[in-house]
Amino acid sequence: MSSSSNSSLATGPTVAVLNQKGGVGKTTVTLGLASAAWTAGVRTLVVDLDAQANATWALGVDPSTENWGTGDALAANATGAAGPMIVPSGWGDTIWLLPAAGDLTERETDVRRADPARRLAKALDGVASTFDLVLIDCAPSLGLNTQNALAAASQALLVVEPTIFGVRGVNPVVDLVEQVWESDNAALDLAGVILNRVPAVSSDAQLRQQELAKMVGSKAVWSPSIPQRVIVNQAHGERAPIHAFGRRAGELPGIFDALLAKLRRSLA
Ligand SMILES: Nc1ncnc2c1ncn2[C@@H]1O[C@H](COP(=O)(O)OP(=O)(O)O)[C@@H](O)[C@H]1O
Ligand SMILES: [Mg+2]
Repeated sequence: MSSSSNSSLATGPTVAVLNQKGGVGKTTVTLGLASAAWTAGVRTLVVDLDAQANATWALGVDPSTENWGTGDALAANATGAAGPMIVPSGWGDTIWLLPAAGDLTERETDVRRADPARRLAKALDGVASTFDLVLIDCAPSLGLNTQNALAAASQALLVVEPTIFGVRGVNPVVDLVEQVWESDNAALDLAGVILNRVPAVSSDAQLRQQELAKMVGSKAVWSPSIPQRVIVNQAHGERAPIHAFGRRAGELPGIFDALLAKLRRSLA
């Protein structure tokens, strides 16, 4: 996208992983990329914006014991507020977490408070730039908290399933990216679309991929896509990086390594 006249806060190496639909793999992609970063020694912050706190939990942190988190960072409306709320993940010292805690659901309705859509950008200002990568795992919504994620990010990454409903849901997300780019964040770019849960053989899935490429442009649909694999659920259940499963993880580590490399090129 070309630049516009709005003023952006510094976004750093920040990526919003989003879709309005739940269950499409936003958290799976966030954790898979974090796992690739873990292997590569890329210092990464995961920001959990979903009140379900699945990323927080899978990163080895119990959300119910956290005193502070993304809800508080949004409420603070203060530069750098996220800094002291960041905790180490259970994955080791390259992966850090801003946990989902602090009334995230209530923050969705803060539209009448001052500067409602730029609070996460403010909270991460001066903080995001101290990491090599910041991944924001969004809630399944196009509401205020997701707008905050987009205002804080330099790249928006959509996660989509190759189904008719998956493809139908893409346009409103792309529209929101455009809207936030215009109103709050001239540094925002649509990195692309990651296809998740792609079946091995399916003419319908192929047709949907072609439709998607027509909608967003074929370069915006990232390769490789992510297949449906049982190991994904096992890794979440064991709260461990998928790269820690060795050969049991099959081709998934290589896929997330390739996606991370592409993502980091888009941030450079
Ligand atoms: N590629 C995949 N293969 C197998 N299971 C998957 C895959 N991607 C996601 N899942 C499973 O689907 C469910 C929803 O995924 P999740 O990442 O939580 O979606 P979201 O964050 O978009 O709500 C989870 O149980 C997850 O383990
Ligand atoms: Mg999720």
